[in-house]
Amino acid sequence: MNIPSQTGPVPRHIAVIMDGNGRWAARRKRPRAIGHRAGARTVNVCIDFCLERGVEALTLFAFSSENWGRPDEEVGALMKLFLGALDREVGELHRRGVRLRFIGERSRFSEAIRQRMAAAEAQTAGNARLSLNVAASYGGRQDIAMAARALAEDVAAGRLKADDIDETTLGARVALADLPAPDLFIRTGGDLRVSNFLLWQLAYTELWFTETLWPEFGVEELEQALHVYASRERRFGLTGEQIAATQAASPMEGRHP
Ligand code: FPP
Repeated sequence: MNIPSQTGPVPRHIAVIMDGNGRWAARRKRPRAIGHRAGARTVNVCIDFCLERGVEALTLFAFSSENWGRPDEEVGALMKLFLGALDREVGELHRRGVRLRFIGERSRFSEAIRQRMAAAEAQTAGNARLSLNVAASYGGRQDIAMAARALAEDVAAGRLKADDIDETTLGARVALADLPAPDLFIRTGGDLRVSNFLLWQLAYTELWFTETLWPEFGVEELEQALHVYASRERRFGLTGEQIAATQAASPMEGRHP
């Protein structure tokens, strides 16, 4: 039986749905774009926090496949924000040892954005302090469908037998397969759902929700989320006794693979 060893107090990988920018702006009678701009500042706070606390990976849901359906003005403002962030922030992220990656349907973005995404990935590819993954035009179901298609192509080409398709082969084809699955999922803005984010990867992730709107989220609540996370017993479908036995067998490990 493959028993992941118990997770230690600091999550290795945090996944975040940054919700509430629009409501934050509406409360101030400002355009939604202002909320997204304020939200971008919170992104920097989270990156700083992860670097300080030794979190290895941070995955942010910046733009869902469904977000293309928002009013043109808002989509345009978000694209401008992404372009500006790519121009302004990548150098500093690189200097701080952050590896930047984008997951999602990249072909839907403008040539200018795609070029900057590729350049940012190439520039930061050798960094290992923090893996910062930005989900953009991303959908979890689409991620799984693309993985299934890749396996089907392998079968058609004779590289793989249909009988060999299992959780391991499919799991190796979804986004971020080279990283540990998220240990902690955070959603701001009060909604209690995962909204098509990392559906495969979140199978055993601890979920934490807050009413706080994303632009107002910060270090204090991150601390609180980590505190709650550290108090949870992760059993991965096993019994508490089995998990305790695994920990006793490898007390230094403290983290799942
Ligand atoms: C959801 O809030 C947020 C988004 C769709 C965009 C998130 C983008 C950022 C935080 C901008 C910066 C990101 C990067 C990576 C530079 P919402 O608009 O759905 O809020 P609402 O539910 O209150 O309407």
